[in-house]
Amino acid sequence: MDFPFTPRYIPMNRRRRIYEGKAKILYEGPEPGTLIQHFKDDATAFNNKKHAVIDGKGVLNNRISEFVFNQLNALGVPTHFIKRLNMREQLIREVEIIPLEVVVRNVSAGSLSTRLGIPEGTQLPRSIIEFYYKNDELNDPMVSEEHITAFGWASPQDIDDVMALAIRVNDFLSGLFLGVGIRLVDFKIEFGRLWEGDMMRIVLADEISPDSCRLWDQSTGDKLDKDRFRRDLGGMLEAYQEVARRLGILNDNSGPAPTGPTLVQ
Ligand SMILES: Nc1ncnc2c1ncn2[C@@H]1O[C@H](COP(=O)(O)OP(=O)(O)O)[C@@H](O)[C@H]1O
Ligand SMILES: [Mg+2]
Repeated sequence: MDFPFTPRYIPMNRRRRIYEGKAKILYEGPEPGTLIQHFKDDATAFNNKKHAVIDGKGVLNNRISEFVFNQLNALGVPTHFIKRLNMREQLIREVEIIPLEVVVRNVSAGSLSTRLGIPEGTQLPRSIIEFYYKNDELNDPMVSEEHITAFGWASPQDIDDVMALAIRVNDFLSGLFLGVGIRLVDFKIEFGRLWEGDMMRIVLADEISPDSCRLWDQSTGDKLDKDRFRRDLGGMLEAYQEVARRLGILNDNSGPAPTGPTLVQ
């Protein structure tokens, strides 16, 4: 390494791409231990069997996820999020991803309804946490704590931490959405290990957006999430915009008219 070491600006096209997933790209960050998370407009479902490009989705998810992660950070829920850099990108801490999709459910929908024959929309007696092994080739199969510890994907202590954090995220998100007339049916989150010297902390990673949540309008039951795409309902971008608008993220043009010179007749 050259000394003195000066951080350099890396132009977009020179950045080292670490990983390209279905919805996001990870680039090397400006400092060691950081990454840049870039939100694409791609929408995929059923493990990539269905694909489309929805112009502007990435921008909305970037903003919605920033909003949620900032508030979680402020509440003391440890997350990978550092700051939003631009319309599509955010600076995050690089973590060692635990290969689990952690799903929290409040209301029955999707695969839970299909598998157990519980009608969609049934309020669950309590929140339920499920684990899926994050592996596209295997279609993200559902696994139990026994599988997770036996195969070494996470320790019993890791699982305790993950579950405690998942419940805190659920409590926060449920209240946040309830306050803007949205029912949080379920959501998927991911966690990673953050090493600080010899110390390891489990932190919330990836994203929280209408791509990863089921959000139903409280009064009409309208779906405001990726199910619009999965089920060919149309209006996906409008639904995501509506979520952003209700959270106060988008300027909705319906506010007071801008002040400025007025025409005098
Ligand atoms: N802080 C982080 N450090 C390292 N990897 C991360 C971090 N946050 C998210 N990831 C990983 O980056 C990828 C994000 O891209 P995405 O398009 O969602 O991928 P996928 O198609 O695997 O779901 C995911 O695989 C996720 O596990
Ligand atoms: Mg993903």
